[in-house]
Amino acid sequence: MTARILDGNALSAQLRGQLAERAAALAARGVQPCLAVILVGEDPASAVYVRNKVAGCEKAGMRSIKDVYAPDVDPAVVFARIAELNADPAVHGILVQLPLPKHFDPEAVLEAIAPEKDVDGFHAENVGALMQGNPRFIPCTPYGVMQMLKSKNVPLKGAEAVIVGRSNIVGKPMAMLLLAQSCTVTVCHSQSKDLAFHTKRADILVAAVGRARMITGDMIKPGATVIDVGINRLQSGPDAGKLCGDVDFESAKEVAGLITPVPGGVGPMTITMLLTNTIEAAERVAGAAK
Ligand code: GUN
Repeated sequence: MTARILDGNALSAQLRGQLAERAAALAARGVQPCLAVILVGEDPASAVYVRNKVAGCEKAGMRSIKDVYAPDVDPAVVFARIAELNADPAVHGILVQLPLPKHFDPEAVLEAIAPEKDVDGFHAENVGALMQGNPRFIPCTPYGVMQMLKSKNVPLKGAEAVIVGRSNIVGKPMAMLLLAQSCTVTVCHSQSKDLAFHTKRADILVAAVGRARMITGDMIKPGATVIDVGINRLQSGPDAGKLCGDVDFESAKEVAGLITPVPGGVGPMTITMLLTNTIEAAERVAGAAK
C-alpha cells in the first residue's frame, strides 16, 4: 500500500487565498491587519522562519513589522518594545520567535504580550482558554494540523490519537484540540517505555519530537493518518544537508493511509494559521469599532 499525501502547500494556497480576501475586506474598512515579529539572536532556523512569516504577510496583503535584536540584548529593551507594540492600535498580532537566548526568561516574555494580540496562543491566559475548550487563539502548528485532518475528513470521534512530544508549542495544545474532537488521546515523550506499543495503536499519529526519521514504518498501524511536525536537517549519511521529518517517510508511506511530507506538509500550514490568527485579531478590533 502507498499512502495518500496530505499536501500542506496545496491546502495553504487555498486557505491563503481566502485570507487575502479577508485582509482586503478589512483594508476597505480602513483596517490593515498587522503582525509584529520579534527575533532575538542569530539562530539560522529562526531567521528563516521569521523571514517566511513576514513574506507570508506581504503576500496576503497584510502589514508586518520585523524587529531583530542582537543575541546579547538587554531583555529590558525587548520588554519595552513589547509594551510599545501592545499599546499601538495599528498592531493586531505580536510574536516573539522562540527559542530565546539563555539570559531571557521565555515565560516572562510570553506573558508580557497582550493576550488579545498573542497570535501564537502561548500566553497563560490563552493556554487556559484553550484547555477550557473556549480558545481565543489556537497555537499555529496544532491549528494547522487540525485543518489538515479536516480537509481530508479524517474521522476523529472515538479515534485513537497518539502524539509523540509534549512541548508547549505542539504536543500539549495538540492533545487539547484532539480531545475536544473526542479522540482518545495518548501523549508519549522521551521517557515513554515502549513507544512502538503506543504508536502502533494510533489511528492518528502526530510526531513532534525533533529527531530525524525516528518513527519508522514498523511503528505505524496500517492505514493510519501520520502527521509529521518535525523539521530536521540531516547532519550525515547520503542525504546530509537535506530536510527531513521525525517520520521515516519511505518506510512509513508503505503502511500509512494518509501522510504529510517534509517539507511541504505541516510547515506551510503553521504560517497560514499564524496569518489566520492575525486576521482574526484584526477582525475583532474592527468589529468592536463598528
Ligand atoms: N519556534 C518554533 N515554533 C514556533 C512558533 O510557532 N512560534 C514562535 N513564536 N516560535 C516558534
